[in-house]
Amino acid sequence: MKGIILAGGLGTRLYPLTKSISKQLLPIYDKPMIYYSLSVLMLAGIREVLIITTSRDIQIFQDLLGDGSHLGMSFDYKVQEEPNGLAQAFIIGEDFIGSSSVALILGDNLFYGSDFGNKVYNSAKLTTGCKIFGCFVNDPKNYGVVEVDDSNNVTSIEEKPEEPKSSLAVPGLYFFDNKVVKIAKQVQPSKRGELEITSIIEAYMNSRDLKIEVLGRGLTWLDTGTHESLLEASNFVETVQKRQGLFIACLEEIAYRRGYINERDLYHIAQPICSTAYGQYLLDIVRKGGRL
Ligand code: G1P
Repeated sequence: MKGIILAGGLGTRLYPLTKSISKQLLPIYDKPMIYYSLSVLMLAGIREVLIITTSRDIQIFQDLLGDGSHLGMSFDYKVQEEPNGLAQAFIIGEDFIGSSSVALILGDNLFYGSDFGNKVYNSAKLTTGCKIFGCFVNDPKNYGVVEVDDSNNVTSIEEKPEEPKSSLAVPGLYFFDNKVVKIAKQVQPSKRGELEITSIIEAYMNSRDLKIEVLGRGLTWLDTGTHESLLEASNFVETVQKRQGLFIACLEEIAYRRGYINERDLYHIAQPICSTAYGQYLLDIVRKGGRL
């Protein structure tokens, strides 16, 4: 399976923060926002990732993440000229996807929870159909909202409904088989003028090819679309990291624990930044030979 991170958009709700820089490059506590979504794809065992962003920001993403080889990964980059919707990612990414299945994650979503790595690792084994997640929220109007029956089948999905039929929102992490490219090309723009991911999911639902996993209380899903939620996400990461001494979304740690890089590689990444808490954290992993 391949992965796409959608990190486009103008981030207008976060002005003036985003007037000259991508929202997905803003800090969530001690790391750029995109680290959190990239870490999810890495935990899923996905090693080839396409980052879709704006022509304004593409160079900065490339400066930040390079070709991925330092992490034993491979990163490609493409531009989404206009914020035309999530479904367009599969059209822009058609060549990159090739004949593979594909996961899409939004560059402004943050996931954290026990066993989440295993959940996404298992989800990435998908070869047919579509897999989504469901998370309880108290403001479902702002998201894609699903209704699920007693047998855990999705019976409806609506994008930002005025009157939500449930409080189960669909977070920005989706797994698809290769049919998604064809389906994306048939999607018509919604009332807000976007090619909606919910239209793609609805097509899978109608052909009974859709699976949902409802994530319970042990899983935290945050998005970072407003100044308030941005600060809350930073505070959350600080709280967890300070208490546990374990970093969230430390890409080099994940690459090391997944066996993509070795202790020497980790040391060479950590040494030049050893005056930072991040560098010290990596050096500590080297010192302990990976033991927690
Ligand atoms: C998008 C999707 C929506 C999903 C949300 C998750 O919304 O359209 O279905 O629930 O991401 O963050 P948008 O970011 O366009 O508001």
